[in-house]
Amino acid sequence: MLTGEGLVEEYRRTHQGSQKLHERAVKTFAANGATHIVRVLDPFRPYITRAQGSRKWDIDGNEYIDYLMGHGALILGHSHPEVVQAVQKQMAKGVHYGENHELEVELAELIKAMMPMAERVAFFSCGQEANMMAIRLGRIFTGRKKVLRLQENFHGWADELVHEGSAGVVADQVNVIPFNDLDKVEEELAKKEYAVLLTEGGGAFMNGRVPIDFDFAQALPDLTKKYGTIWVLDEVVTGFRDAPGGWQSVAGVKPDLTTLGKCVGGGLPIGAVVGRADIMEAFNPETPPERRIPHTGTWNANPLLCSAGIAACKLYQSGEPQKKARQLADYLRERGNEVLKERDISGRLYSRTVVHLYLGTIDYEPSDDTMPPTEDIKKIMDPALDPVYTRLCLHLLQHGIAVATKGFYVLSAAHTTEDVDQTVDAFSDSLDAMIEEGTLSQALRVR
Ligand SMILES: Cc1ncc(COP(=O)(O)O)c(C=O)c1O
Repeated sequence: MLTGEGLVEEYRRTHQGSQKLHERAVKTFAANGATHIVRVLDPFRPYITRAQGSRKWDIDGNEYIDYLMGHGALILGHSHPEVVQAVQKQMAKGVHYGENHELEVELAELIKAMMPMAERVAFFSCGQEANMMAIRLGRIFTGRKKVLRLQENFHGWADELVHEGSAGVVADQVNVIPFNDLDKVEEELAKKEYAVLLTEGGGAFMNGRVPIDFDFAQALPDLTKKYGTIWVLDEVVTGFRDAPGGWQSVAGVKPDLTTLGKCVGGGLPIGAVVGRADIMEAFNPETPPERRIPHTGTWNANPLLCSAGIAACKLYQSGEPQKKARQLADYLRERGNEVLKERDISGRLYSRTVVHLYLGTIDYEPSDDTMPPTEDIKKIMDPALDPVYTRLCLHLLQHGIAVATKGFYVLSAAHTTEDVDQTVDAFSDSLDAMIEEGTLSQALRVR
């Protein structure tokens, strides 16, 4: 059993190629050598050279079961053969025509077929661009400026999207209020100052680390309509991950605008705003200039991306990949929670196709294991526990399991029950090692 400094020493010994790359990278990338905050780890995360299905391999030949899955974009797994074939074919035919082409029409039609609220579609390069544009559209349509957002909901790193209080941010028109509090939403909307209410599909933080109450979500269409605010539902993570119709089809809600990203591009970068035709008239060149948006963006709907998106969306239509990912997530939660309970660890796995690990006080045992054992957002997001999640992440990496440092597992249709069994073994060994070395604090033990 690897414990204490022995874990770090063994990790360095078995990841020498990654260490060399990390030493080069720190001279260039200010974020301790990483190009995304999720890729920062002490001593370093592995440098990956290849991925296929549910697995990826690093420069030292170590194999991992991957639970990052392209930050949630790869519900089909890595390099799905139909996506690879489509992209290879398109690559040879041209990456970018700087012109209109059939593939963009086909991709938009596939989106419309799956998400009936999508009367119009506009493409961007990533999810946050779609969110920025949705805010602009809402402002033009309503003639108002303010944006209402919910605590812990994440929409990107741009000023008006990032977490409240982030350094260097100017977001004077944004008001962030508590989550799941309908009275507070109504109190704000009643001021009739808000252009947009922006909320995350599935709940806050990667498809529901903090779950959203369905009653709350279902009240939002009427409430926003009553006070003349545009409801933008951010389905960048949930868009076609939860169901062919997105999370909105699961929750039974219809927003005015939906933003999409991640899975829709089949693994290539994409963003989309879809929704009401009257709101999206701002893109129409006939619209008077004071209400018009000249839509630019070098990479919008480029043929290479569209080829991947079409191949992927065709597979999403049946709902089978989503169903498989969900079944594996159910299995991971079930087996993983047995491990936690056997060890009297005060924590639970919960949520849907992105399985979240909660460590902290168990306020009650939910009857439905998609829910965390507390409603207290502060406990769920408690930064004091970050070192525990990070330590677990390092143990798991050394066991061949790649998870994000915050402790969530993104499932795909390429994972297998054997993958989950192997993961649960690694999870239990890692937790045993943490109990032994004392990094799973006494507060997280029930006895
Ligand atoms: C809910 C949500 N919205 C928007 C974004 C931003 O998307 P992108 O990183 O593609 O700009 C993210 C990114 O993780 C997200 O989780």
